[in-house]
Amino acid sequence: MNILILGGGGREHALAWAIRQNPKCDRLIVAPGNAGIAAIARCADLAITDGAAVAAFCDENAIDLVVIGPEAPLAAGVADALRETGISVFGPSRAAAMLEASKAFTKEICDAVGAPTAAWARFTDAAAARAHVARTGAPIVVKADGLAAGKGVTVAMTEAEAVAAIDAALGGAFGEAGASVVIEEFMQGEEASFFVLVDGETCLPVGTAQDHKRAGDGDTGPNTGGMGAYSPAPVMTDAIRAQVMDRIVRPTMAEMARRGTPFQGVLFAGLMIEGGEARLVEYNVRFGDPETQALMMRLGGQALDLIQACAEGRLAGMSVTWADDHAMTVVLAARGYPGDSAKGGVIGGLGGLPETSLQMMFHAGTAERDGAVVANGGRVLNATGRGATLAEARARAYALAEAVDWPDGFYRRDIGWRAL
Ligand code: AMP
Ligand code: GLY
Repeated sequence: MNILILGGGGREHALAWAIRQNPKCDRLIVAPGNAGIAAIARCADLAITDGAAVAAFCDENAIDLVVIGPEAPLAAGVADALRETGISVFGPSRAAAMLEASKAFTKEICDAVGAPTAAWARFTDAAAARAHVARTGAPIVVKADGLAAGKGVTVAMTEAEAVAAIDAALGGAFGEAGASVVIEEFMQGEEASFFVLVDGETCLPVGTAQDHKRAGDGDTGPNTGGMGAYSPAPVMTDAIRAQVMDRIVRPTMAEMARRGTPFQGVLFAGLMIEGGEARLVEYNVRFGDPETQALMMRLGGQALDLIQACAEGRLAGMSVTWADDHAMTVVLAARGYPGDSAKGGVIGGLGGLPETSLQMMFHAGTAERDGAVVANGGRVLNATGRGATLAEARARAYALAEAVDWPDGFYRRDIGWRAL
């Protein structure tokens, strides 16, 4: 089977690494890929949000299956364009990707099926939004409705912060994505990520994880795309998983099918758990980054069988083979991240690192220049370890991080603290 993966971050390196291990994989191409991916797959230059361009590339390269990593091509309808030409694709249609592309859309679906989530209201008018905040008080959460590259959410501890967030979004800080805002009740509890494959009908959970969103140790500092993650998430007990499937995931998927827009791909439910009850924070319609790096470490080559069955509508006959294991990934970021960070710094120490089923250094934002690996993004490397316990996984992940010689980089020292 010839496979194309769209994307070029740590998530895609982890997907490529797992898929490569499956003997069904003949040729593997990743677009655009990165310096780490280039060691295990061909990297191709391709306009990945252009459905016609991706379809033409698949035709030229005899691609049998396309795995879409990030949300942008999904929201742009790339999966639709590929399905029209008969190519198997892992990732939802543009209509089903609305579960990530519009916060208000997801809230309406939750209300329609009675899925537990924070109370909410939607505004396009700043005065009305401010009046709502004055009525409800803080803490309160203000979100740009659309895709804002992870920057559209403000957890406001004061009314003034909420008002500033409203004015920024409706004032155009996020472009079209902020043309309307969703204002939500602030939820307390422990957050976790739950990943469920859906083939339009059948839902198959493929793992849980917890990530660390803040840049600094002790969960301090600015919000980021994620500074590290571990799997499984202890808070996602059997009972909570069953509850989330019954109350949130299955009803949402049934409602999407009923509306004529069935979901096919991986549904990523961001959850808030408190007192034995889980509520939905948000959906994403793709794998998480960096959660996937920990997940793929645990799934290995079977990931391809699961992804292929999902794309082909055959999940009903599938199951996941779990080892009783744990994995952790530690993000090495460029100094300054999530703000502006310098690109081009040379990263040493990568050459002799172990590359095994217990330890992998996934590349997130790297490029090759004159034979050297250089930083090419905010999140740059993902040191990933697996073990029989989380402590063992952590030791293996941090051993990799410490072996890297990169003066411009930093990483958190406390990934997994809550679980350990
Ligand atoms: P989102 O992009 O919707 O996942 O929001 C980003 C982060 O903001 C989440 O991971 C939570 O930490 C936080 N957050 C979002 N919505 C809420 C809420 N209603 N209550 C508390 N925290 C929230
Ligand atoms: N790590 C969170 C996300 O992928 O959205």
